[in-house]
Amino acid sequence: MKHSILEMADYVESCSGFINGVAIVLGSGLGDFTEQLDNPSVIPYHAIPNYPQPTVEGHSGEFVIGNYNNIPIITAKGRFHYYEGHDIETVTLPIHLFQKLGVKYIIITNAAGSVRMSMPPGSLMAISGYADCTFRKNLMTPQIVSDVSSKLLVCVEKASKSEKVKLKKGIYCWSQGPGYETPAEVEYIRNLGGDAVGMSTVPELQAAEQLGIEAIGISTITNYAAGILDQPLTHNEVIETANRTKDDFAKLIGATIENIGELL
Ligand code: HPA
Repeated sequence: MKHSILEMADYVESCSGFINGVAIVLGSGLGDFTEQLDNPSVIPYHAIPNYPQPTVEGHSGEFVIGNYNNIPIITAKGRFHYYEGHDIETVTLPIHLFQKLGVKYIIITNAAGSVRMSMPPGSLMAISGYADCTFRKNLMTPQIVSDVSSKLLVCVEKASKSEKVKLKKGIYCWSQGPGYETPAEVEYIRNLGGDAVGMSTVPELQAAEQLGIEAIGISTITNYAAGILDQPLTHNEVIETANRTKDDFAKLIGATIENIGELL
């Protein structure tokens, strides 16, 4: 391992006292959720020995640690994308760090594009399956993997009912980026059975699975993917919709954490 994860985990634990809680990775434009935490402490990534730095606008690069209804929470604001040139080891580093901190449950969030008219921008989608559509290893047809944590899926579904926040379920497809997809790529993803497309989350879900940590992904649908509508899409549109949806998102995540709290 080129990163000394134990050293990083020791540092985070010594600064915050965090151990054995729930971890949340906050995607683009979703970072405000940390305002819901009691007694927050902030650890900038640059303060952690050898921790890498993210570079994308809208991702600030810090852990915010606090309590939600007395449940210890660590949030990662800012993630490492494969398209930034980070290797998979770096992309999944936060998941490995969470494991060293005793985390058993992780919520991984992102902003994603919808490939279906039936899922408009502003929708929240629990990831019930995913596919690696990067073609970075081979050119074979991507397989849909559906073994996400059923326990956590139930926690999100219960949260959606109790908070009266509408929730869809669907297949998230990882496209490599950094540019948005072409309309032809979006059509390919739809024909494959995908519902949403984004540039993250799949490596993190795979790492959690390998480490035996229960993980669930939740997408905020910020736009129709390229070619669904007859207009270009922009990063601003993604950030604006994430902003517009953030109250529902916060309610859904909050109630999901409470439900996970019953499993701890
Ligand atoms: N494609 C890929 N990633 C995204 C999109 C999209 O349409 N929207 C937000 N993240």
